[in-house]
Amino acid sequence: MSSNIIEPNQENSVRSRILEELKDVRDLPTLPTVFLNVMTMMRNPATPMKDIARTIEADPAITMKILRLINSSFYGLAKTVDSVHQAIVLLGANTIKNVVISVSIFRAVGQDQVDSGFDRTAFWQHSIGVGLIARFLEKRLGIGRSEEGFIAGVIHDIGKIVIDKYLSEELVEIMKLVREQNIEMYDAEQIILEISHCEIGAFLASKWKLPDNLVDAILNHHQIDPESEHAAYASLIQISNAIARKYKVGSGGDDIVPEIEPAVWDILELSPEMLEEWDEEIQGEIEKSREMLDALIS
Ligand SMILES: [Fe+2]
Ligand SMILES: [Fe+2]
Repeated sequence: MSSNIIEPNQENSVRSRILEELKDVRDLPTLPTVFLNVMTMMRNPATPMKDIARTIEADPAITMKILRLINSSFYGLAKTVDSVHQAIVLLGANTIKNVVISVSIFRAVGQDQVDSGFDRTAFWQHSIGVGLIARFLEKRLGIGRSEEGFIAGVIHDIGKIVIDKYLSEELVEIMKLVREQNIEMYDAEQIILEISHCEIGAFLASKWKLPDNLVDAILNHHQIDPESEHAAYASLIQISNAIARKYKVGSGGDDIVPEIEPAVWDILELSPEMLEEWDEEIQGEIEKSREMLDALIS
């Protein structure tokens, strides 16, 4: 990923001050070790499932949460699963990877609540909704191989959590502007902070050492960089975010359904007619997002 995400380019600007402040934050959220271990293991398709299961089970708290999620009605399994290995055999390694990532992210940033008027529950519902829509479109369009669309969706707006946690006074001003001028948070952030949740989120994702395509999706989902080799992921998230907003799945902080950039349709080889055709299935995915949120935050 480009190393200039967090490099101030103008001295004494609000932007520079914000970037310096973020760099100095000592308690930025960290992902559990099990997350990095599982990501590394799964990059090698030859890793035996029982090794992945053992790695996950080394963290009992994560294991408990994973089994709880797997046994929720979200997966609709006929019998209760009581081991991670059994879960991998039944659901496949990719699904388990997604569950590990979601659970890890929720453990890192999902629980705390800051009193800044930013509705975290609605925010996570939005994020999971975007993740499920992105996973559906990713499969239909044959992009990627590892269901990373789901994760990209879950974390695309993670920068808003950083703003909520560390820049809460500025967030109050951003939300005021969103309400008064009926603009997107993305635009209000740039007026107040001179930087958006995209760059801030990409900073955190880089610290977490997430794969480049995920960092790119976070960084560019509001403005596609067609030159980027990962433009498909950012495009996938731009469109999934718009669909989630159209159907009012939770809230990303404002209620505006953003325009889709023309490049997105070309990059994804997608048309509005195709979306129309898949509409019922997409709504089915949205239904699942409500159940999934309940399982993750319970
Ligand atoms: Fe966003
Ligand atoms: Fe969003």
